[in-house]
Amino acid sequence: TRIFVPLDSAAVACGADEIADSFAREIARRGLDAVVVRNGSRGMAWLEPLVEVETVDGRVGYGPVEPEEAVALLDGALLTGGRHPKRVGLVDEHPFLKNQTRLTFARCGITDPLSLDDYRAHGGLEGLARAIELGAEKTVAEVLESGLRGRGGAGFPTGIKWKTVADFAADRKYIVANADEGDSGTFADRMIMEGDPFCLLEGMAIAGLAVGATKGFVYLRSEYPVAIRILSEAVEVLRREKVFGTSVLGSGCAFDVEVRVGAGAYVCGEETALLDSLEGKRGQVRFKPPLPAHKGLFGKPTVINNVVTLASVPVILAKGAGFYKNFGMGRSRGTMPLQIAGNVKHGGLYEAAFGLTLGEIVDGIGGNTESGRPVRAVQVGGPLGAYFPRSLFDTPFDYEAFAAKDGLIGHAGIVVFDDSVDMMKQARFAFEFCAVESCGKCTPCRIGAVRGRETVEKVMRGERVAENLALVEDLCNTMKFGSLCALGGFTPYPVMSALTHFPEDFHGTPLREAAE
Ligand code: NAI
Ligand code: SF4
Repeated sequence: TRIFVPLDSAAVACGADEIADSFAREIARRGLDAVVVRNGSRGMAWLEPLVEVETVDGRVGYGPVEPEEAVALLDGALLTGGRHPKRVGLVDEHPFLKNQTRLTFARCGITDPLSLDDYRAHGGLEGLARAIELGAEKTVAEVLESGLRGRGGAGFPTGIKWKTVADFAADRKYIVANADEGDSGTFADRMIMEGDPFCLLEGMAIAGLAVGATKGFVYLRSEYPVAIRILSEAVEVLRREKVFGTSVLGSGCAFDVEVRVGAGAYVCGEETALLDSLEGKRGQVRFKPPLPAHKGLFGKPTVINNVVTLASVPVILAKGAGFYKNFGMGRSRGTMPLQIAGNVKHGGLYEAAFGLTLGEIVDGIGGNTESGRPVRAVQVGGPLGAYFPRSLFDTPFDYEAFAAKDGLIGHAGIVVFDDSVDMMKQARFAFEFCAVESCGKCTPCRIGAVRGRETVEKVMRGERVAENLALVEDLCNTMKFGSLCALGGFTPYPVMSALTHFPEDFHGTPLREAAE
């Protein structure tokens, strides 16, 4: 019998390692015919640690399991898949999972992340095999045709980026996976690296083949120790094990990957600061042009894509551009791993075709707030994303539809707030965040963020409210149009959306602060 205990950071934070140890100890002590497999997460965060057992009917889940419950669970229900207060039934039949369209995350939580056999048994390496068959040019064409756009946030067409690099002659080219997932409330990159690391590496190998790059780097944030370990081990497996008569990665192969760990600056998620950091310099934003596609890592043409973008490539190649393109709406093709977080009952990762409305996501899938109080605001797209009020809940999840409402879908982080949220404080927080994380290269961001926070604080104290709010708006325009990168340029989104949709929170008096 196989018992699955996730190794995913979210599950580990709730005691999954202790649970796995307890199971392993008891199984050995009693000589039971069972084995513990450390899988990735299924993405149902509120059920973590979600323990699953293989039965003739399918995998039966129990969760959230407390470490101290582990032995009793093993004694009682677990090995039979039987009744228990924590039994959630057949995991694949759970409505949260069943209604998803899992393309990129198809294997996540199901397979043993470090078993290449398991990976291949679930369709792994079929994309790379097809890319090898198609050759470079047709592989680029396939990605272009699929309509895949950058999942890191900006939504730039991946095929065009790849073609730019492919068409640029150079003696060396690079593939860089941006795994510096800095947006608060997002965890899709982490989940795929912990739960299905070969998928990212396969996507990078396909990108290498497509554009003629021989070397790839994963720039991974230091706050993700589990992902660092799993991905590094996955690289070793792909260097060691022979597939197609040779290994997928390694010095003797067409492509190799190195995992590099960042030191935790938010701005190092910005592609040019990331490249500087990879080169061993202080992570500071570079002027564009030149684009990284022309002059990137070590001055060479570089494909730099978000983890989810690269991890979406294998399924596109394996199943064809037409298959992928069939999902979605408008110019947003395929699926997006929505990351539902904050004050929400059913938080986690939900992969779906573009087009669900924000209301369907928050009320339907998320099941409303954890606190039981009404939802008041939802921040979409990370700390630089806009706050959406309930009146905009009919907005479909689509790059253009969100932009039309002065928002962004970004990396698809959705953070829910109930009616106890103070939107003026959130606006102050946006400026504060920008002030702390600013790389300091350009004036609108470096100085604007500090002045912005001060000005919001004046409003909080009830000082010349109308005049200071006009100043905040003016400052936001300067930052939006004058900043060198998205950190300064997008800080106005949370600030202005808070002001526009929740003006009642901005006419406070000193009482607001004094009351706390
Ligand atoms: P951008 O619009 O400047 O560029 C998007 C991408 O397209 C870049 O890789 C750029 O080099 C490339 N590109 C543009 N024109 C090209 C051309 N003609 N040929 C080839 N490549 C071309 O956006 P940027 O500044 O890279 O990203 C901003 C986004 O980052 C925001 O939308 C925000 O949502 C997101 N973000 C994501 C975070 C996360 O944790 N994932 C954190 C912070 C921001
Ligand atoms: Fe640096 Fe901010 Fe300017 Fe970006 S906007 S380059 S983070 S100072």
